[in-house]
Amino acid sequence: MTIPLTFLGIESSCDDTAAAVVRAGAETVVLSSIVVGQTALHADFGGVVPEIAARAHVEKLDGCVEEALAKAGVTLAQLDGIAVTAGPGLIGGVLSGVMLAKGLAAATGLPLVGVNHLAGHALTPRLTDGLAFPYLLLLVSGGHCQFLIVQDSQTYHRLGGTIDDAPGEAFDKAAKMLGLPQPGGPSVEAEARQGDARRFALPRPLLDRPGCDMSFSGLKTALLRARDQLVADQGGLTVQDRRDLCAGFQAAVADVLAEKTRRAIAVYLQATPAAPALAVAGGVAANIAIRARLETVCLDFGLRFTAPPLRLCTDNAAMIAFAGIERFRLGQQDGLDLSARPRWPLDQTAPAMIGSGKKGAKA
Ligand code: KG4
Ligand code: ZN
Repeated sequence: MTIPLTFLGIESSCDDTAAAVVRAGAETVVLSSIVVGQTALHADFGGVVPEIAARAHVEKLDGCVEEALAKAGVTLAQLDGIAVTAGPGLIGGVLSGVMLAKGLAAATGLPLVGVNHLAGHALTPRLTDGLAFPYLLLLVSGGHCQFLIVQDSQTYHRLGGTIDDAPGEAFDKAAKMLGLPQPGGPSVEAEARQGDARRFALPRPLLDRPGCDMSFSGLKTALLRARDQLVADQGGLTVQDRRDLCAGFQAAVADVLAEKTRRAIAVYLQATPAAPALAVAGGVAANIAIRARLETVCLDFGLRFTAPPLRLCTDNAAMIAFAGIERFRLGQQDGLDLSARPRWPLDQTAPAMIGSGKKGAKA
């Protein structure tokens, strides 16, 4: 029988301040999950400003924790542990969360568990769907893009990832150059619905090369060129031009993700999993067209397809509490010397990723 454990989770690695309480036993329940976003604070700067993010986390964290405990109906004394994102991410933000978690652990004597933010995303399909190891994960958000075989809660094998922009970042930049509102993903998707994806010949980067690595920055430049050509030829963009550009861009991203997913599945299946499954997580997983393409690929290979609900796909602290519980069950915890890490790849053996996205360092 699994002994129920109740953990507080704290997340502050990027531009969401979050706290949550999760109870995991025979079944796992998210008792509360509070997320306070910072989109408005960074809106004028074209990206997340680390100093502004860190200051906002310091201001909001205490309130988030109090609200998460109150909503869950538990006191600090009723918890079994405190889990906190210890990296990777914007260091000032990560530090604010780690310092708060250490203070709470010192004051209460509760176990402290440092969690890799990416492990939080990677283990979410177990929280939501009880997925069995090993499963294949495609993590696609504004800051991350990688294929991982999730072997167990501590062992990840990275099959490939973006060598430049993350897809969500590319969606956001595409929206910006077409004068559409942020976040770009949903606005580009809405325009694309009424567009002709075949009108503009946009590239499918890196499909001509073997492996699972991806690139989205050339696609973004191609979109910019197509837009500039239209502006030069006709003095501006019509409503239909914008829709067609969005449709072409989204189709190119979907094609790249689908083909690279095929390749990743082929490698993953060599590990002969008993119940093969692909999970997709991150904000871009909300895109219906992309989701449908990935689901079709899974059907072709006979894989189960899972995508957690959006509130648990995007940054949150429930995934951190859950990942903390999984680590704690293995007998692992941290001391008050836990440090914040700006970079912390899940697969320590994989080569480091190049560049750093608008949402901080890629890992
Ligand atoms: O996971 P997330 O909330 O934050 C991190 O990046 O950590 O992902 C946000 C990203 C944004 O870049 C946003 O444009 C993208 O996910 N996104 C989408 C859609 N909804 C959100 N991209 C494509 N289609 C969507 N429907
Ligand atoms: Zn994230």
